[in-house]
Amino acid sequence: MKALEGVKILDFTHVQSGPTCTQLLAWFGADVLKVERPGVGDATRKQLVDVPGADSLYFTMLNHNKRSIELNSKNETGKKILTRLIEECDVLVENFAPGALDRMGFSWERIQEINPRIIMASVKGFGPGKYEDCKVYENVAQCAGGSASTTGFRDGPPLVTGAQIGDSGTGLHLALGIVTALYHREKSGRGQKVLAPMQDGVLNLCRVKLRDQQRLKAGPLKEYSQYGEGEPFGEATPRAGNDSGGGQPGRILKCKGWETDPNAYTYFITQAAVWGNVCDVIGKPEWKDAEGYAKPEDRLDKLNEIFGAIEEWTMTKTKFEVMDICNPLNIPVGPILSTKELIEDEGLRATGTIVDVDHPERGTYSSVGCPIKLSDSPVEVTRSPLLGEHTLEILQEVLGYQGEELEEIVNSGAVGEPKRAAAE
Ligand code: COA
Repeated sequence: MKALEGVKILDFTHVQSGPTCTQLLAWFGADVLKVERPGVGDATRKQLVDVPGADSLYFTMLNHNKRSIELNSKNETGKKILTRLIEECDVLVENFAPGALDRMGFSWERIQEINPRIIMASVKGFGPGKYEDCKVYENVAQCAGGSASTTGFRDGPPLVTGAQIGDSGTGLHLALGIVTALYHREKSGRGQKVLAPMQDGVLNLCRVKLRDQQRLKAGPLKEYSQYGEGEPFGEATPRAGNDSGGGQPGRILKCKGWETDPNAYTYFITQAAVWGNVCDVIGKPEWKDAEGYAKPEDRLDKLNEIFGAIEEWTMTKTKFEVMDICNPLNIPVGPILSTKELIEDEGLRATGTIVDVDHPERGTYSSVGCPIKLSDSPVEVTRSPLLGEHTLEILQEVLGYQGEELEEIVNSGAVGEPKRAAAE
């Protein structure tokens, strides 16, 4: 039995943030019923299309292990069915623009009236306040949540990161809120509202940058390269290039082949505990005991010189050789892996973090599987549903419609043109 088996999720999510959350819940065993607009579906089905006529990778990679029902939630019959779904489900997850659910006639008060045990979980761009009505996408959240202002180099503009911390990051936060509310419901018998604003989620991930904001009052941030470069600090946490975010100085350094390979780099951390090993490996044994180098705090104004010397050594090795040499010496290093290297990585494939999935329209594609491993609840990744593939199945099996009533619903146009084959 999977960890969340028996939990029914009314998945009213679209694009990335909400679908990330419900995909995780599906992987843990929940029955996720994705409600989509008839004939249209989640906008990502047809965004960034690589195989004409097939659901895009954007959609398929975010909607595994779900069932799809087409439902027009603004039509009277559609609202009746949505009401039945609310009655039957344990959790409603949505990430519509602010107010959209209310405009459909399904406010939190109304939803609670229909099913007091239901948990309603929402992603919004911002929490309550002056921006609460704004529509928000990934990069807006990265900018508004403190990530962009602290990413990049000091002499360049703010940068967004390739990690989807606004969308997928907030989806993760929401999933935690949902399972916590489910746990609470075991005791209270009642559902509750869970809100994960994207700005707040990004800020949570930028916690150490707010740490540094407050440390500025006590003087310059000595572990930032700019300290050793004699650049004064301003009023806010500055962009720190590839400096380590913690107390152990680190940098991205060139490795053999960097001239032609954009990812021939390693991250190298001069952890204080293994300073002697670092000195030995780069051929600077004299630094082990030298004044100004022996103690971690004395090295902070010399980071450029120290990393320059380490880089002279890393440039003679490939990023994997650096790892092979440094790991046995307990020196924390990490190769800069390209997406190509990751998708082909045997270790990640062996653990199911990279999986191959068969899809009837597009053939086999690779995806990121479940990154969280539960020992008694292994994940089997199954393909994303076609639009409305399970409409009839859900109407019949989950909601119990049959005979004339089912016929009426199908003829009302509220559920698109259900694919009967799926139910037969
Ligand atoms: N049947 C009928 N109508 C439906 C429907 C269905 N099954 N599903 C959605 N709709 C309607 C909504 O009710 C809404 O109508 P309204 O504007 O008349 O109220 C409309 O479709 C569009 O929904 P909306 O959420 O506004 O989509 P959008 O494409 O305009 O905006 C976002 C997209 C992502 C910007 C917006 O949804 C948003 O800000 N979401 C919250 C933050 C978020 O999650 N952002 C990250 C996305 S990865």
